[in-house]
Amino acid sequence: MHPLITLLLAATFIPAMAAAPPSSNGIPLPGNYKFWRLIGVSHRDDNTSLRAIVGNTTAMTAIHQGRTDPWPDGTILGKLVWKDSKHPLWDAAIVPGKLSHIEFMVKDSSKFARTGGWGFARWVGMELKPLDNEGGKPCFECHKAASKNDYVFTRPAALP
Ligand code: HEC
Repeated sequence: MHPLITLLLAATFIPAMAAAPPSSNGIPLPGNYKFWRLIGVSHRDDNTSLRAIVGNTTAMTAIHQGRTDPWPDGTILGKLVWKDSKHPLWDAAIVPGKLSHIEFMVKDSSKFARTGGWGFARWVGMELKPLDNEGGKPCFECHKAASKNDYVFTRPAALP
């Protein structure tokens, strides 16, 4: 192959390879999720992990305006999950350790009508390996427990 073509190919594919592949149900990893705001936190004592629940701008505006039942189309909720770890300087403080996974619920009431209007996607570990989640069906099955709250468990944490 001509060296220039090789260079062009490399330039085209390197950025694509750096990003995580989309989920099996075609949801791309939201590129800017690290800039989203915090909605709530949770701790699971059955599998000792800490979670931050975050939202995109549409989600934060909906919370601010009290329009979260149902959440508007365009809302994306994220859950970032780390294994429990002890703070190296303070034994009693549980802090985020190894990243377990990050996952998202994308609201599009027509596209994801079969799963309550939400598209579910999870990426596992620092290498962001997409979980094959059967189109989000198992996620949705469990989230049905929150069907009275538009399938969302998290209540925004109180702030004055
Ligand atoms: C066995 C039950 C169960 C399954 C399966 C499940 N979830 Fe959840 N999910 C929960 C619970 C409980 C919470 C709230 C507590 C917490 O933060 O862990 C939650 C919270 C979330 C949140 C934050 C918004 C909210 O509803 O509170 C997202 C995003 C999320 N889950 C995505 C997913 C995705 C994506 C999958 C599938 C890959 C999935 N969940 C599978 C039980 C489940």
